Amino acid sequence: MKFFTIDQLDQINEGEEKPARYAVIGNPVAHSLSPQLHQPALDALDQDARYIRVEVEIGKVSEAFEKMHAAGIEGINVTVPHKLEALEACHKVDPAAASMGAVNTIVFDHEGKRTGFNTDGPGFARAIREEFGVDLGDLKVIIVGAGGGAGRAIATQCVLENCPQIILVNRTLEKIEGMMEDLLRLGQPETLEGPRDRISTIALDDTGLEEAIAASELIINTTSVGLKSVDPSPFPSHWVEPHHLVYDTIYNPERTRLLRDAESHSARVANGLSLLIHQGALSLEYWLNQDAPISEMRKGVLETIKG
Ligand code: ATR
Repeated sequence: MKFFTIDQLDQINEGEEKPARYAVIGNPVAHSLSPQLHQPALDALDQDARYIRVEVEIGKVSEAFEKMHAAGIEGINVTVPHKLEALEACHKVDPAAASMGAVNTIVFDHEGKRTGFNTDGPGFARAIREEFGVDLGDLKVIIVGAGGGAGRAIATQCVLENCPQIILVNRTLEKIEGMMEDLLRLGQPETLEGPRDRISTIALDDTGLEEAIAASELIINTTSVGLKSVDPSPFPSHWVEPHHLVYDTIYNPERTRLLRDAESHSARVANGLSLLIHQGALSLEYWLNQDAPISEMRKGVLETIKG
């Protein structure tokens, strides 16, 4: 079964040995790699649990959460297009998730009340440490495509980690101007020193972009440009220099044009697989209160992507 609908929740355990206890919701959801990420981890941890996909219509997220919990689901991941609706359907929302304007992880308490978290931002911080051996908070970052969902989550994390420079780049400038105001209001002033001096915005076609990239240490692509193998780089990739770390949130194709060009300019590069894995691992840690088996998760996803 590729996915269930909310009307099929009474069938989720038919003919199965292990009960469905965890799930991802989305629309469409059939392509979601979350089961390939989580099932090997649940098995490695000897959990008597299956991870399933549930397709949910827009406007029905709250109803889906209630029915899924009644059907025995204990933890939920949320993917496109439900991350904002999921936030609104929670009884409690983690402050960082509220700042990101999106929830991707639901935890139920013993009464069935829902708390929403966003593991994309913290998962990104872990991915950067794993890939490049540095703390995100020590880097001058530039986020190309900050107006999308992933861009916003990563930008919020950069603010929370006190990055010394955060440049938000977007094709449509208006989309990030409002977001910048939200970011400036974020957190406690005593832990976030002078965010107004550290955060700026620039349009993708601004002539100052080359200079902004040169002044950055970590370049992050969160645009969807690169998803097709024929896609160009989202900005002129000859601007990448050997001192740059370049992270593309796209993991399929494995090497976007941006990453290929950046490598040929001797920059260190990484793709979004580590973000996918670490955001999933953090969800699992919220549900099970134990460390996630990262290598099993990586193996599960790689088998699917390469297969
Ligand atoms: P979401 O992540 O919210 O689903 P999206 O529509 O997939 O959003 O877009 C993600 C990011 O990719 C956005 O920053 C978007 O720029 P706009 O806000 O200007 O739409 C960016 N993006 C998508 N296609 C692009 C393109 N051809 N050139 C440059 N940026 C692009």
